[in-house]
Amino acid sequence: MATTMAAPGRVTVRMKVNGVEYAAEVEPRLLLVNFLRDNLGLTGTHIGCDTSQCGACVIHFNGEPVKSCTLLTVQADGADLTTIEGIAKNGEYDEVQMGFWEMHGLQCGYCTPGMIMTANAFLDRNPNPTEAEIRHALEGNLCRCTGYQNIVKAVQYAANQRGGGGAAPGPGTDLEFEHKDVIEHAPENLQDWGDQLAGQEEQ
Ligand code: FES
Ligand code: FES
Repeated sequence: MATTMAAPGRVTVRMKVNGVEYAAEVEPRLLLVNFLRDNLGLTGTHIGCDTSQCGACVIHFNGEPVKSCTLLTVQADGADLTTIEGIAKNGEYDEVQMGFWEMHGLQCGYCTPGMIMTANAFLDRNPNPTEAEIRHALEGNLCRCTGYQNIVKAVQYAANQRGGGGAAPGPGTDLEFEHKDVIEHAPENLQDWGDQLAGQEEQ
């Protein structure tokens, strides 16, 4: 079979992403995160820093969680990748995605795809984690909004849904918290919110 030469200064790469085979000509310097977002349109993988610290760009590379901003696209030649767009199966969210929904594990949502990809791979390796192990696993993922409490609960929820029994809460964890508690106590509008705050100050 005839092979096509890449244009000068470009390299041909082939990879599978979310079960689909892709071939493309790219500049050797192109980062994998930019290839996924700009070439393939998979914008669920986020860019949150330029120092490889935030973890918003985590994908699965041959089943391992990696920060896609730390790899060149040419390094993924021949690889099997999964992004956040490929985590749901048969139209159903997976347990970690459901955990973030049920435990309200986000605020702005910017870190969420990376958190889910990291947690998903972590639970594959450790289906029965302690709270400390969950927190350790997520150390490479930064969240500027949540304070992490509900993110940990989301992973505990997922572990329990997957059948791991050891996701029992550790000291200081309140698994009785449920999403409905937030909804029930949420103010209807700004006026309602102001009234609630005024009531708290009077007590
Ligand atoms: S974009 Fe922040 S670690 Fe990759
Ligand atoms: S929910 Fe906003 S950065 Fe994590």
